[in-house]
This record gives sequence, C-alpha cells and structure tokens, in this order.
Amino acid sequence: MNLTDRPRRLRRDGVRSLVSETKLDAHDLVAPIFVDATTDERVAIGSMPGQERVPVDDAVDRVEEVLETGVEAVMVFGIPESKDERGSRAWAQDGIVQEAVRRITAETDAYVITDVCLCEYTDHGHCGVLESDAAESPTLTVRNDATLELLAKTAVSHADAGADMIAPSSMTDGMVGAIRDALDGAGHESVPIMSYAAKYESAFYGPFRDAADGAPAFGDRRHYQMDPANGREAIREVALDVEQGADVLMVKPALAYLDVVRSVREEFDHPVAAYNVSGEYAMLHAAAEKGWLDLDEAAHESLLAMKRAGADLIITYFAEDLARRL
Ligand code: PBG
Repeated sequence: MNLTDRPRRLRRDGVRSLVSETKLDAHDLVAPIFVDATTDERVAIGSMPGQERVPVDDAVDRVEEVLETGVEAVMVFGIPESKDERGSRAWAQDGIVQEAVRRITAETDAYVITDVCLCEYTDHGHCGVLESDAAESPTLTVRNDATLELLAKTAVSHADAGADMIAPSSMTDGMVGAIRDALDGAGHESVPIMSYAAKYESAFYGPFRDAADGAPAFGDRRHYQMDPANGREAIREVALDVEQGADVLMVKPALAYLDVVRSVREEFDHPVAAYNVSGEYAMLHAAAEKGWLDLDEAAHESLLAMKRAGADLIITYFAEDLARRL
C-alpha cells in the first residue's frame, strides 16, 4: 500500500474550510410561507414543526421574520377562503396570494416568488380542470389544455400584485409557454419563471397537503406528475420547459432525487433549484423528536448534499433555522 497519498492531511481544522468544495449560504435559500384566508390567527402546522399558516394581516410580519435570519427570498402559498370546481380564487384580484403579495412587496425588500397551481383552490384538490367523468374514472383526471388558460391568468394576477418571480407547479404540459406569453402580453416581460420542471408524484408531499389543504379528494396525481422510476424522462421534461422559456429549473423533491439534480445541472446551463419538500422536513423533525438524530446537523448535511449535487438554490422549510446558524 502506498501511504504517500494521505487525504486525511486536508481534514484538519484550519484547512478543512479552505478546501471545502461546497458551502451553504443564506442567499441561496428560499423560505416557503403559508398565508391563510380562513383564519385570523396564526395556526401551527402539526406535521411541519415550526411552520405556521398566517392570516393576511400577519403576512408582512411573517416575511420580516424570514428576512431577519438573512434569507432574502420567500415562496408564497395561499389557502383561499373558498374553493370551487375551477379554482377561481386562484386568479382573483382580491385573492389571498394577491393581497399578501401586494402588502409584502409594498412593505418589505423580500424577493417574492409565488407558487402557481390550482390544487389549493379547487374543491376536488386536483391541479387543473377535471374531465367531466373524472370522479367515476380516475384514470382521466385533469384536462391539460383547458387548465393552461387558468394558470396563465393566475400567474398574471400574481405579477400584477407585485410578484418578483412566478413558479408554476402543476405539471401541465405547455404551462411555461402559456404563462410566458401571458406575462409578456401583460407587460411583465421581466418577471422570470422558475418552473417546477421535474416534479415527481411523491409520497414526500404529505405534510404539505395538510399545510395547504390541497390533497386530491379522489384519485392521485400520477397522470400529471412524474413517475419516480424515471430519470431520463426528467431531461425531456426539463428540455420542454427550457424551450418554452423557463428561467430557473426546479427538481422536486430533492433528497431522493439528487441524481436528477445532477443530470439537470450537467445537461443545462440554467440555474437549478431543488425543493426540499415537506416530507423531507417532517421526517428529520420526527426522528429528532425521538432523539434519534441531531436535527441541525442532519438538516445541514441534507442541504449541503443538494448543493453538491448541483443545486444553485434550495427551497426549504429549514431556511430560517439554517440561516440563523450560518
Ligand atoms: C402544488 C404544490 C405542492 C407542493 C408545492 N406545490 C403539492 C403537490 O404537488 O401535491 C409540495 C411542497 C412540499 O411538499 O413541501 N401546489
């Protein structure tokens, strides 16, 4: 054995950080926030310790809490006061996200990203307009092309309210192109789109669906979200969004899909985002609560791995805790 090469030489304190390849930085993190039109008090989200739904009157305070930690960007999710078949509160001028975004952009310097989807707004909980017989034949669920127009209207209403970036998450084919056209038509040429480009049909979204009250009432999302079995298909999905004008490419979830983060990083020059989803957050909290692992260390290591895999930015419920420690 040749012992002239000893990698351990560079692992001592003092030199470790000089040679470290990856660093986490508060500037690379986006904190999701939940604004809820059905409450006038903050409501803790049971399955996501430390996360809350806040009434619109607390939206600015909530964002200020984020900014104090050094995180500069938020992703806004809304829980509307009422739901209907088409999700019409998603594009309402006086909708919950629109109202929150107007206040946040007027009163803070946060960079405001909005999630564009219909599942929190439809009474059936799917991410678009349904086939008329969908409840009986759950293999045919969302009508793709009829949904595009609604997503486009929603995106424009968010930009009109002051959103800095639009993040469509419904996995509707053609959504990025439809939203880009609509934004440009409404004078929002400079508002970028962060596409949930490779979004998988994942069991790790469970806690979010409690948080945002967006679980499908029947069936599931496997007809529009990606099959976890597929990696090559992610490249095709992402390429379509790039052709349609996506500015930032997101992979979601993150931890179980780091191979996808890496291949998107290698295949495209665009910035890559990883969404460290609710289930990834909840499972670390649950294990830590039992005393089975150290929460801060495990969270830090997880996010570091996402950057190492190639993510430029990370959307994460750990944003504030992590930033405070950095
Ligand atoms: C759809 C949306 C979802 C998430 C973000 N946007 C839910 C879904 O697709 O079922 C999940 C985020 C998370 O789990 O943290 N509006």
